Amino acid sequence: MKSIERVLLSREQIAQRVLEMGRSLAADLDHEADRFAGAARAAGNLHVDGAVGPVVMIPVLTGALVFTADLIRAMPTSMSIRPVTLSSYPGAATTSQGVTVQGDVPTNLRGCRVVIVDDILDSGRTLGLLRRLVEAQQPQSLRLAVLLDKKKPEGRHENVKVEYAGFRIDDEFVVGYGLDFDGLFRNLPDIVTLRDSL
Ligand code: IMP
Ligand code: MG
Repeated sequence: MKSIERVLLSREQIAQRVLEMGRSLAADLDHEADRFAGAARAAGNLHVDGAVGPVVMIPVLTGALVFTADLIRAMPTSMSIRPVTLSSYPGAATTSQGVTVQGDVPTNLRGCRVVIVDDILDSGRTLGLLRRLVEAQQPQSLRLAVLLDKKKPEGRHENVKVEYAGFRIDDEFVVGYGLDFDGLFRNLPDIVTLRDSL
């Protein structure tokens, strides 16, 4: 059995940071749209709107469920949401056991402006795999947003480019705000560490 040890990030700290992330992500997507439209205009393209791809958010379930719900509501951006389910920590494992895709990875992303959203970057296996699967479909642009970026003094299994990271945290196991241990604790509003309890 596990119980809460201490609060690492409070709901207030998380709310503030997620709001900032949503706003800056939305602003960057706006600027990008202006850039693509400007380039199309300069090239004499009459259908400038068609030069700017639709925004597709890809939350990695289940961990990114809560983060995505808050992030997208901080973004006044026209978007669709196409979740993917990946799993790398089966059951009570607390280290990555290799990634499996459950169900389908979104297809037809060619020309879309894709934002992959995940709860945490740990070994890098999950986002490394997904980044490659999405890049292969030739989106117009691709961004990765994670709430937590775990410090890995010994280096990551896979170095993944992440454009937006909410907090850098020490290399310890955390739950809450979408993150689980053995399927539990996802509904905690704060991000906490766990200890063994009797
Ligand atoms: P990676 O493939 O090792 O980078 O792992 C990423 C996935 O593992 C995340 O999407 C989480 O679901 C899970 N994960 C990694 N670290 C933690 C943690 O500290 N608590 C809960 N889940 C974690
Ligand atoms: Mg996950």
